[in-house]
Amino acid sequence: MADGPLVSHGNERTSLSITPTITSANSLGKQLRQTASANNRKIKMTLKKRLIRYTDLKPCTNAFIDTRSPGSDKKENFTLIGPGVAENPDQHVHISIPHGFNIGGARQPSGCLNSQHSHLTEEVFVIHKGTWAFLSGVNADDGKIILNEGDIISIPMDIFRGFECIGDDIGYLYAVLGSDNPGRVLWAPKVFDLAKEYGLVLLEDGSLVDTTLGEKIPEGKKPMAVTSAEQIAEHRVVNSEEMKSIVQRTATFKWAKNKGLAQFNGVEEVALVGRHVLTKIYPQEN
Ligand SMILES: [Fe+2]
Repeated sequence: MADGPLVSHGNERTSLSITPTITSANSLGKQLRQTASANNRKIKMTLKKRLIRYTDLKPCTNAFIDTRSPGSDKKENFTLIGPGVAENPDQHVHISIPHGFNIGGARQPSGCLNSQHSHLTEEVFVIHKGTWAFLSGVNADDGKIILNEGDIISIPMDIFRGFECIGDDIGYLYAVLGSDNPGRVLWAPKVFDLAKEYGLVLLEDGSLVDTTLGEKIPEGKKPMAVTSAEQIAEHRVVNSEEMKSIVQRTATFKWAKNKGLAQFNGVEEVALVGRHVLTKIYPQEN
């Protein structure tokens, strides 16, 4: 049987069409059903690799350099789509098929802080559960904004950010980073100091050495240099008022009217992250 045209599913390709070689109607029908059934099995197997049940989530409790720092030691990190910026090579990646972006998750009890850092791509947070404070600045004291369930914040590369669950209950949020390889986290200097006190060393290659477990810095590898004053100076100072411009609140979502999918009965659609958001913070460039 000759191969039919291929239908692309991300990076995988599945043959969905056939060229019949049997002319009998009954035989042809049987062959079509068998081929469709085989293709369905193939597609289902592919989709299984792309499905994550919340109940099946595998958290990592030592994903990052701040994992032992008081106030940050109760967080659970998840690499959902792509490896993200994980510093623990043993962290489970739930969907490893390259998507061109990464989605991670963080589940934190009240009072638990994800320390100040920045990235080489935009970082978008979607609040799924709980109330969260987002703090800007290398020392977490430039600005602050409170987000609730459904709210979204899109943080540009050149802003140090951290986030703390401040509700009564455990919180859960999604974090999206651009590209298949978003590079390494740039941590605030204070994070390195605290990690040292608790026996963790971050290496130049982005991996962690846990000296409390007897691990040693491998031959030929070096600790990552503490973030310099020059690197810090490349970041912007953003106050609480300015942080409002990078947030989309559920209460003020601009729902599309009679456009796109919204033209169909019962469908509501809203564009949340894209050029209209960047325009607010980079007006000169957009
Ligand atoms: Fe981050």
